[in-house]
Amino acid sequence: PKDVGILALEVYFPAQYVEQEELERYDGVEAGKYTRGLGQQQMGFCAAHEDINSLCLTVVQRLVERGRLSWDSIGRLEVGTETVIDKSKAVKTVLMQLFHDSGNTDVEGIDTTNACYGGTASLFNAAAWVESSAWDGRYAVVVCGDIAVYATGNARPTGGAGAIAMLVGPNAPLVLERGLRGTHMEHAYDFYKPDLSSEYPVVDGQLSIQCYLRALDRCYAVYRRKAESQWQQAGIQRPFTLDDFKFIIFHTPFCKLVQKSVGRLLLNDFLATPNPDTAAGLYKGLQPFRGVKLEDTYTSKEVEKAFQAASQEIFNQKTKPSLLLSSRNGNMYTPSMYGCLASLLAQSSARDLAGSRIGAFSYGSGLAASMFSLRVSQDASPGSPLDKLVSSLADLPARLDARKRVAPQDFAEIMKRREETHHLADHAPHGSQADLFPGTWYLTRVDAKYRREYARK
Ligand code: ACO
Repeated sequence: PKDVGILALEVYFPAQYVEQEELERYDGVEAGKYTRGLGQQQMGFCAAHEDINSLCLTVVQRLVERGRLSWDSIGRLEVGTETVIDKSKAVKTVLMQLFHDSGNTDVEGIDTTNACYGGTASLFNAAAWVESSAWDGRYAVVVCGDIAVYATGNARPTGGAGAIAMLVGPNAPLVLERGLRGTHMEHAYDFYKPDLSSEYPVVDGQLSIQCYLRALDRCYAVYRRKAESQWQQAGIQRPFTLDDFKFIIFHTPFCKLVQKSVGRLLLNDFLATPNPDTAAGLYKGLQPFRGVKLEDTYTSKEVEKAFQAASQEIFNQKTKPSLLLSSRNGNMYTPSMYGCLASLLAQSSARDLAGSRIGAFSYGSGLAASMFSLRVSQDASPGSPLDKLVSSLADLPARLDARKRVAPQDFAEIMKRREETHHLADHAPHGSQADLFPGTWYLTRVDAKYRREYARK
């Protein structure tokens, strides 16, 4: 099969949110800390009657319905999530209820977990299946979903929730570029969830940021080396730079970190360039940083500031359009980077995207990270697969506008209720149907044996 990649993309986020500016006042922190400091505008959240199963049910059904697909046409479905409500039973098995009437049970794939990286691992698996001898000609579906909630304190404003489903197959408008992947994995305790009775992670915020940036450096170095060696084989001898990505999307814990990450990539380019011009142009005034070593700069505010300023225009052009969902719904964990992809597609024209390379950096604490790229098809004509994909996401801003704003004290109460009822048997979870978008699945009951029942609004 040729041009294996993403054919369609469906987004689900909760129908309610808190305003970060109001949360600043409620939390008693300095005005501007969450909004200007972290770059966050709003944060979506779920009441107790939404869980990881309901989120994924909603997004998969939407993908199939809106794409007018038949349930028989799917031969693989896998889920990337870190929202674990059962240590054995996969979310994937719950999703098989959707296939019930079609009689299709021949569906490979299961859940994958490592913090925010599970969705990317699932996407790589799905693409590998389509390219393999095991492929039976049908589509693969990749689902990423999470409910990202933190205990009260400085991490709480970096939460979010949502799910994304992607249809994967050949002749895609977004092609996973073969051989162009840089991965970095290592053992770190930056963010983890050892307390299985709680939804909240144990997180070392500053360490997690350093781990993220180090993984970014390493992945970019490997990605670049592989791109350059592909070029060499084709007789082209030149370095890979940020110019070779028309767009760059990132796993987005909060938007400010992504802006800093673009600066970080520019620092990588700068250090890899043999004789950069520091008198004029992109690297103007950066001469004092010529001798720095990447590994010594993770906490340097000087380096951060200089390269953030130098990369401002690159950020505005290549990355800013991808931050719509992240700034207004927050960190969805596994779907975060795919939400950036959806936002980029929603805010660009098919003509602007056609033929471009989108760089993608996926990070999951603990840690697992990859940089890879998507090549957008050349054909942007009306009715083309690219045009259909782009138009299917055009209503994203309007859908965000249609959500209900909730006061911070009500949000805090709902979080409290989630804490109290999380993993409780024999109860009906609290939450109103009125606070859900039409077509949303929700949890109606957990019985005495912890079996969960769902209904669709
Ligand atoms: N106006 C403008 N900016 C302000 C203000 C203000 N009044 N007050 C503070 N700021 C700025 C700070 O200067 C800082 O910006 P800088 O780093 O560019 O200097 C920013 O706001 C945040 O302030 P901090 O004091 O650094 O915030 P704190 O340490 O309290 O919390 C953190 C931030 C660590 C990100 C926390 O929210 C957290 O732990 N989040 C979860 C972990 C996370 O998301 N990690 C990222 C990778 S791992 C993952 O994806 C889960």
